[in-house]
Amino acid sequence: MLVIDNISKTFNRNTVNEKPLFSHLSLTIQQGEFVTIIGGNGAGKSTLLNIIAGALAADEGQIILEGRDITSQSEHERARYMGRVFQDPLLGTSPNMTIEENLSLAFNRAQNTALKWGLSPKMRKLFCETLAPLQLGLEKRLTTKVKFLSGGQRQALTLLMATLTKPKLLLLDEHCAALDPNTALQINQLTTNIINEYGITTLMVTHNMEDAIRMGNRLIMLHEGEIILDVRGIQKAQLTVGKLVALFKELQGREFAYDQALLAP
Ligand SMILES: Nc1ncnc2c1ncn2[C@@H]1O[C@H](COP(=O)(O)OP(=O)(O)O)[C@@H](O)[C@H]1O
Ligand SMILES: [Mg+2]
Repeated sequence: MLVIDNISKTFNRNTVNEKPLFSHLSLTIQQGEFVTIIGGNGAGKSTLLNIIAGALAADEGQIILEGRDITSQSEHERARYMGRVFQDPLLGTSPNMTIEENLSLAFNRAQNTALKWGLSPKMRKLFCETLAPLQLGLEKRLTTKVKFLSGGQRQALTLLMATLTKPKLLLLDEHCAALDPNTALQINQLTTNIINEYGITTLMVTHNMEDAIRMGNRLIMLHEGEIILDVRGIQKAQLTVGKLVALFKELQGREFAYDQALLAP
C-alpha cells in the first residue's frame, strides 16, 4: 500500500514566481492497484510522481510505502524498488550501451549489495525470455546499441527495465505520448500485460482519456493540485470520454464540486 499523507508543495516560495500546487493532498493506493491519472496541463501530475519517486521534496507530508516512511529517502534509494518510465523514449535507456548492458544495469540497480552481477549466460537467458514476448525481435539483438532502436522499441525496453525486478511501485508519466498511435497501442498493451502478470502497484499518467478509462482499475483526475475525481469499479467502467469532458468543462465554472449525475450511466 502507498500512502501519500498530507503533502504540500509550493514552488519558488517567497518569490514573485511563487506557485502553490499541493495543499495537504492525501491519497491511499492499495497493493496491486493500477491507477490512471488524468488532468490538464499543469495540474500537478508529474510533480506528484516526482514527489513519490523522491526526485522532488514536498514541503510537508509523508510518503509511506508498505508501512515504511520513505519521505527522507533519496531518489536513488527509492529507484531500487520503484520503476519509472517517462514520456521521452530517450530518457530511460543509455544510447551507447547495448540492449543487454542496459538490461543488466536495470537488473543490478535493484540489488541491495555492492556486489554487481556480470553479464552471464544465465542473465542473457533471462533477458531473452523477457524480450521474446514483445515480438519485436529484440531478443536476437542483445548486443545492438540502443541508439539504433526506434522510439517504440526503446520505450518497450525502458518498460521492461523498469519492471524487470518486479518493483513495489511503477510510475508511468505519459510514457506513450511521444509514440505514433499504433506503437502507443502496442506499448499500452505491453504495459497492461506486465502489470497484470506481476500485479505491480502502478500510477500511470496519461493525456489520453480513452486509455485512462480503459486501462487500470481506478481513475483519478487532478486539477490545480487537487484530486477532483477518484473512481473505480462500476463507476469507472461506466465513464465515457464525453462525461469526462463535461466534467472538465463544469470545472471551469465551479470549484471542485463535481456533479455526481455526470457519472451516472
Ligand atoms: N521545478 C518547478 N519550478 C517551478 N514550477 C514548477 C516546477 N515544476 C512544476 N512546476 C509548476 O507546477 C505546476 C504543475 O506542473 P506539473 O506537475 O509538471 O503538471 P502536469 O504534469 O500535470 O502537466 C505547473 O504550474 C508548473 O509550472
Ligand atoms: Mg506532466
